[in-house]
Amino acid sequence: MSSLDEGFGRLRNAAGQLAALAAAAAAAARPVTAPVTRPWERFTRWLKSVMPKGLYARSLLIIIVPMVVLQSVVAFLFMERHWNLVTNYLSAAVTQEIATLIDVYRTYPQDADRAQLRRIALDRLGLVVDFLPGTPLPPPGPKPFFSQLDAALSDNIRKQIGRPFWIDTVGRSSIVEIRIKLDDTVMRVLARRADVYDPNSWIFLVWMVATSFVVLAIAIAFLRNQIRPIVRLADAAEAFGKGREAPNFRPRGAREVRRAAAAFLEMKGRVERAIEQRTTMLAGVSHDLRTILTRFKLELALLGEGPEIDAIKKDVDEMAAMLEAYLAFARGDMGEQSAPTDIAELLEELRLDTERHGHRARVSFQGSPIVTVRPAAFKRLIANLVGNASRFAGTVEIAGLRDHRWLTVTVDDDGPGIPPHLREDVFKPFLRLDDARNQDKGGTGLGLAIARDIARSHGGDITLGESPLGGLRATVRVPV
Ligand SMILES: Nc1ncnc2c1ncn2[C@@H]1O[C@H](COP(=O)(O)OP(=O)(O)OP(=O)(O)O)[C@@H](O)[C@H]1O
Ligand SMILES: [Mg+2]
Repeated sequence: MSSLDEGFGRLRNAAGQLAALAAAAAAAARPVTAPVTRPWERFTRWLKSVMPKGLYARSLLIIIVPMVVLQSVVAFLFMERHWNLVTNYLSAAVTQEIATLIDVYRTYPQDADRAQLRRIALDRLGLVVDFLPGTPLPPPGPKPFFSQLDAALSDNIRKQIGRPFWIDTVGRSSIVEIRIKLDDTVMRVLARRADVYDPNSWIFLVWMVATSFVVLAIAIAFLRNQIRPIVRLADAAEAFGKGREAPNFRPRGAREVRRAAAAFLEMKGRVERAIEQRTTMLAGVSHDLRTILTRFKLELALLGEGPEIDAIKKDVDEMAAMLEAYLAFARGDMGEQSAPTDIAELLEELRLDTERHGHRARVSFQGSPIVTVRPAAFKRLIANLVGNASRFAGTVEIAGLRDHRWLTVTVDDDGPGIPPHLREDVFKPFLRLDDARNQDKGGTGLGLAIARDIARSHGGDITLGESPLGGLRATVRVPV
């Protein structure tokens, strides 16, 4: 029977593992805690720690990062090529116009104030031209960093006019000033910035960014739908691990997710069938043996008195007690539905029972007391621990604590306790330490095994330790 128990435990463990896996897929990759020395490993560790943990955020990142990189490259190339080209063309055109004006100035006789030349320049070319005889060129100003305009304009003037010049493209104004030294004077030209430079390219960038936001919004909407089935699967697996039902769970979403969900449902079915089979078999075996034991007792009664017969009678009684325990277990919590239960009230009932049997007991509870458990099974779990405590000690202290993740119940006593190396062993079915201590106090040795089974079927566990009262402390922790 104990191998059956182990098999059952393994199945439960497998369910727990699947729950953990699915939860990890939907939510978290835990940080590695092993000490790491190599730089590469340190880097990957750092990367893992800064990367978002959720699948949703990660998928978004997978969409956003390539988009940003692509757009940056495109934008950069665009600026580089297009802006350069257009700015170059525009400043070449303006330079040609200035060169024409210089030719006209030098070739044809001038009226007073060069009024005709200035009029033509203003009306036809949109350039404000002045002549400043006798003024030298100002010293070259600071070269603006990154200005294609300055570079393109200087280049064109040097190539097409080939005279000393001075330009000012830096100011934020919409005017670009160009001075060119002629033989006897300095020609000053004020051109509109828009004539030499292409200022409208940012519209391209605005379109690009705006389009990406639209694409992103669509991606978010679609991703949400893709990830929801995975989260549902994780929830269902988690609920199953805690021994609860996930009533509305159906395979949904992408093919792979559907497959995982279907596999989960199949596994759940197999686990449930295995549990049911175990329960039926245990019940059957116990029942049959009990019938035979009853016959034994009858026959023994007919045999009369004697020391050997008394010994056999005692063994038979012990066996009957064991079978009773197993029958109770087999009939017990299986098939019971989880329900919101007032744990504080449940603990209080146990305290009254304990006091009724002549022991001192104290109960305390912290946090909101309503927790979803299988009520009868959970009560049996705590009752087994309290029963042990009151069997071995005079004072029992029960404390419940509920926080946002766990319900923790500790049962303390002031009895002899259990030595550390035996604290795992006592969970084995039929193992009792009483033999050496006190035969009369002997139970069947199933209590702790049953208690742990119930705790694990709720997704939790029991640990044993030392109590501040001097005896044993049993701690039950189940997720809420
Ligand atoms: N509070 C305790 N203090 C000291 N020893 C304990 C305590 N609880 C359990 N033990 C030891 O652990 C053994 C196993 O406990 P378990 O509850 O599984 O069996 P049992 O109490 O002997 O029998 P059953 O509970 O089935 O009637 C006990 O026999 C006892 O020796
Ligand atoms: Mg017990």
